[in-house]
Amino acid sequence: MYHYHLLHIERDAMKLVSILVIVTLNGLINAQLWSYQISPPTAILERYFKFLNFIGLDKTPERTDTASEIPLPTTSSTTATSTSTTVPPPQFESWLEIQQNTSFRAILQNINQNGVIVASPSKQNPNYYYQWIRDSAVTVRTLISYLEEHHDNNTKASHSHSQVSNLIELYILNNYKLQRTPNRLGDFANLAGLAEPKFNVDLTAFNEPWGRPQRDGPGLRAMTIIQFIDYLNRTDGEVIHPELQNSNYIYQKIIKPDLQYICQYWNESGFDLWEEVDSIHFFTSMVQLKALQMGIRWSKYFQDEDGTFTTKLINSFDVLKQHIENEFGFVSFGFDHVVESPRLLDSGERLGLDIATILAVIYAHENDDKEQQTGEPVANSMPFNVFNPHVLNSISGLIIDMRQRYPINKNRFGVALGRYPEDVYNGIGTSEGNPWFISTSTASEFIYQFIYNLQIQKSNLVIDDTNRQFFQPLINVTGNEYTLEYNSSDFNSLITKLVEYADSFLDVVRTHTDSQGRMSEQFNKNTGFMQGAKELTWSYSAVWNAIRWRKKALAI
Ligand code: NOJ
Ligand code: NOJ
Repeated sequence: MYHYHLLHIERDAMKLVSILVIVTLNGLINAQLWSYQISPPTAILERYFKFLNFIGLDKTPERTDTASEIPLPTTSSTTATSTSTTVPPPQFESWLEIQQNTSFRAILQNINQNGVIVASPSKQNPNYYYQWIRDSAVTVRTLISYLEEHHDNNTKASHSHSQVSNLIELYILNNYKLQRTPNRLGDFANLAGLAEPKFNVDLTAFNEPWGRPQRDGPGLRAMTIIQFIDYLNRTDGEVIHPELQNSNYIYQKIIKPDLQYICQYWNESGFDLWEEVDSIHFFTSMVQLKALQMGIRWSKYFQDEDGTFTTKLINSFDVLKQHIENEFGFVSFGFDHVVESPRLLDSGERLGLDIATILAVIYAHENDDKEQQTGEPVANSMPFNVFNPHVLNSISGLIIDMRQRYPINKNRFGVALGRYPEDVYNGIGTSEGNPWFISTSTASEFIYQFIYNLQIQKSNLVIDDTNRQFFQPLINVTGNEYTLEYNSSDFNSLITKLVEYADSFLDVVRTHTDSQGRMSEQFNKNTGFMQGAKELTWSYSAVWNAIRWRKKALAI
């Protein structure tokens, strides 16, 4: 009796304390004192709701976004092979559906009526309210992929086709104007101004000091716009906007100047995609090469300058390719990964591991199968695809480094990835680097693309000393060389493992988005809370693409 009484008092006291904690937490959340920037990551919220459940104050987390608009997949989904190590598949899978949709909508929110794409709506700490040539081009790739997906599959698109293609055309028109806007680097007449990295939202030049030139801009823009005219060509579509006239006009007036820029400047140093280092970079050179390769096709098609321009493009392609493979030092003796900026390796400042190399591989190769149908000659093929051992060692090198570097990665299968190990940018200023949404989702996208290519190639997989590190978390290989025969049970179970591996990176993304599916640029390496520019357009684009590639990889 006495005992029973004591227990009761203790339990009541505990309940009282718990309720006080809950009331405070609830108050904070409801009063929105947890503003966006420091909103709790999903994992923390989940633990909070579990705790509520535990003490009998059950409150199931509700997503207040568009969950209801989107048909959730039935529990027995078609993707039986996919399991995430931490989340039961149905929950993960329905998250993917919601997040892909949320991301797409968030991208559209960052595009103004006139086709200007802002990097982020954040106007201070940091101010990303500008149109970057790179971020915009990468984003429009996603819009084009969206059109392609919904065209090929004949699926019902939740965002109207015409609305999306209209935005793409406005983006193109907008870039016609940006190309011709004189800026600190020069003007349109001498082409030098094309490497200006960012412009004000009202289309005027950004005249303050910045890391310029950034020579990936013309390459990425040309690739993106060519992808659009490729798409129109394949689907018998037409340019709608009267000012853009037709594909030939777009090629002559907008694509060609960017290609000319690349022919003239590919050998010159410039700032990297992270806007920090003036040098030669793998990312920049690869997107330039890809633009040239895509440009060759259209210059042939339009018989540009009676074929003289085609010859010029082919020559530039050949020498640049040669430099990428041999001269520039991206492959360096004693190092088994791709070196992003070789000068920094020489000076001892960086090892060269950088998610930029993986982004470059993805941007340069993700449309390989579509392009193969157009019969590209082998001589024009792009180097460094997803099977390249140096590329595989880059992704695994990053994973190994960042597993240790970021405390939140403890006991994780897939891990949160940042830009490069030596990074010190915290999203506003410099202190310590953190994981990024772009990098983490790019790891999963890369692995899905690897799976996809492995499946369509239908060939055996050889694991040896050159690529063993990449497979190390997935399969125990003894001996010097191990061959997995196509479609053997070993082969298939490795595929299953690879899917789990890729999923587990996306699951990290899931953990750090907020309850609305919003994403900033980075999340803190200790606490997991988001930081840096809010609602970063590129984050949404990267996650959307990763989920798209998951579907492609699983559909085979
Ligand atoms: C330094 C960062 O590392 C870089 O990526 C960024 O673009 C600039 N600061 C400007 O915010
Ligand atoms: C900083 C990134 O380093 C750079 O790549 C990007 O273009 C800008 N932020 C804008 O998002």
